[in-house]
Amino acid sequence: MEKIILGIETSCDETSVAILKNNKLVDEITISSMKKQASFGGVVPEIASREHLNNIHKITSEILKKNDLNINQITDIAYTSNPGLPVCLNVGECFAKTISNLLNVNLIPINHLYGHLFSPFINKDIEIKFPILGVVVSGGNTTIYLANSYVNITILNDTMDDAIGEVYDKVARKLDLPYPGGPKIDKLFDENMCNIQFMKNKLPGNAKFSYSGIKTAVINKINEYKQKKIRINVIEFASSFQKLIIDDLIKKIEYCILNNKCKTIAIGGGVAANSYLKKKIMELKIENKFISDLKYTGDQASMIAWYAKKIIT
Ligand code: KG4
Repeated sequence: MEKIILGIETSCDETSVAILKNNKLVDEITISSMKKQASFGGVVPEIASREHLNNIHKITSEILKKNDLNINQITDIAYTSNPGLPVCLNVGECFAKTISNLLNVNLIPINHLYGHLFSPFINKDIEIKFPILGVVVSGGNTTIYLANSYVNITILNDTMDDAIGEVYDKVARKLDLPYPGGPKIDKLFDENMCNIQFMKNKLPGNAKFSYSGIKTAVINKINEYKQKKIRINVIEFASSFQKLIIDDLIKKIEYCILNNKCKTIAIGGGVAANSYLKKKIMELKIENKFISDLKYTGDQASMIAWYAKKIIT
């Protein structure tokens, strides 16, 4: 029987549905409430969850219609169960449970981070050779995984405090760049403008991720410039910050490559869109490198449906 999976993602500010037929991702519709949150400088859970409520049923009807599908043809419902903003996750879970009960079809709760981990492989005709080193870098997470299979996954390194994307957004805000700041900083990045030294000591490759120290050092330097009335060159600040934080991430990835027998690395999550990170990943001494396609770096239901298919077959 043909498998048709409906994927649902509502963990943060994107309401997203996707359809996977057999092994192919055929369509996705995503609505972001990011613009409604921009003036607050970050995601307001209550606003995001209201937007999920307004949109989830509409985009589900739309994607079925667009693909000439009747809801009774859906064989499985996969939804993001964790991690995420609880009030946002609740909307997706409630919607998924209701449809699966009515249709009497499989309900598959999915860890959003495993969705990101395997997102570099979406719609690619590649047989993954496990183990792989999976790196998930986003607004809420900075994690390096060792995946021995689609379900045997352990954490090699994780953040002790702020996630990498969160620090991008906070530094950008301090530089008066609009939310989300990651793409803005990346756009300004110039490798010849990384002259500012924010901190004397750098953490070794075997240390846990800790980005609140980098965040504080950059913010303190901006405050110092302001107090001393030194002109702030935004390009120089943005570039020096990006080099510092990505070089730290690369150092930790290199440590994990050296200490684990992996020939493949996969990078997913919002920050995987970063141009300097992509360049540094390509320079790594590891045989196979996979980075999410830009359309799959952010939060979307395609990765949820894709990962669901892998764990039910
Ligand atoms: O995975 P994602 O869409 O969502 C959540 O984690 O919820 O990641 C969003 C994060 C934001 O912090 C954003 O600033 C960051 O990814 N981001 C980037 C880039 N594009 C998005 N950070 C650095 N460089 C980029 N090009």
